[in-house]
Amino acid sequence: MSIEINKLHFAYPDSDFALQLPTLKLAAGLTAIVGQNGAGKSTLFKLLLGLQPMQAGTITINGTSGEQLVGSARLHQIGMLFQNPDDQLFNATVAKEVAWSARQITKDRTEVDQIVQKTLAQVELQDLAAANPFDLSLSDRKLLAFATLLATNPQSYLLDEPMIALDWHSQAIVLRIVKELAQAGHQIIVSTHDMDLVAANFGRVITFDHGKMLFDGAPTDLFAAPAIMEQAGLLPPQIMQICAQLGDTNVYLTPDDYVSKHQTAQLQTQH
Ligand SMILES: Nc1ncnc2c1ncn2[C@@H]1O[C@H](COP(=O)(O)OP(=O)(O)O)[C@@H](O)[C@H]1O
Ligand SMILES: [Mg+2]
Repeated sequence: MSIEINKLHFAYPDSDFALQLPTLKLAAGLTAIVGQNGAGKSTLFKLLLGLQPMQAGTITINGTSGEQLVGSARLHQIGMLFQNPDDQLFNATVAKEVAWSARQITKDRTEVDQIVQKTLAQVELQDLAAANPFDLSLSDRKLLAFATLLATNPQSYLLDEPMIALDWHSQAIVLRIVKELAQAGHQIIVSTHDMDLVAANFGRVITFDHGKMLFDGAPTDLFAAPAIMEQAGLLPPQIMQICAQLGDTNVYLTPDDYVSKHQTAQLQTQH
């Protein structure tokens, strides 16, 4: 499972913004894309999804050229959770919303019903199956939009700011599902501002600034490069911010990481 981007160039008409990427291969598992508002994260996702034509370059999705991926073949390969769930929801009930998506990949009614039950249970919205999506809280609407994507179960998932507007419990649900998908061999690319999320869960982080790639590597290496963090307008994980105020400028990904590094250091001084 992989997405390959080769020398991509894209500019919106009547705008100074241009997205310019080198050759980039995104493998299975979890990849985070970070950067300030306007850095080009959503634009990349729209290009990967085929919503916009590029001016130059190529995109290959799981072995097939993006341009050749059409109809249900595309749905099986790649799908996106939009930042704003209201861009994705339009059916009369929660269950119909998921069923509509499921019907894009199967016409078998029993199968559609099974997908609806399974995905609503995954996001814990089964008790709201008969509700109107627009009577749901923003957090639940976002979970429902995620359920519609799970219903088509693409090989590659693009999640655009999936945690924004989610309450704490819903964030835990999404994180659990994302980890399960990655374990099952799916590719998950997440755009986010949340460095604590990246630090705790991601092995690879790609940093955008004004449409260009500034960094591609492990979160530890990004957080160890203050000049890149500053240029990209990113704050390090909270544990690093607290430690920096206390004069400790080492890299710590999470509170657990801090504790284990200090326990190791203590053991070393005791021996
Ligand atoms: N439809 C559009 N037409 C013109 N400019 C756009 C359009 N969509 C986004 N932009 C501009 O492209 C740049 C990148 O936006 P975007 O990809 O949404 O960034 P991000 O998701 O990182 O916040 C911004 O300057 C934004 O104003
Ligand atoms: Mg965006």
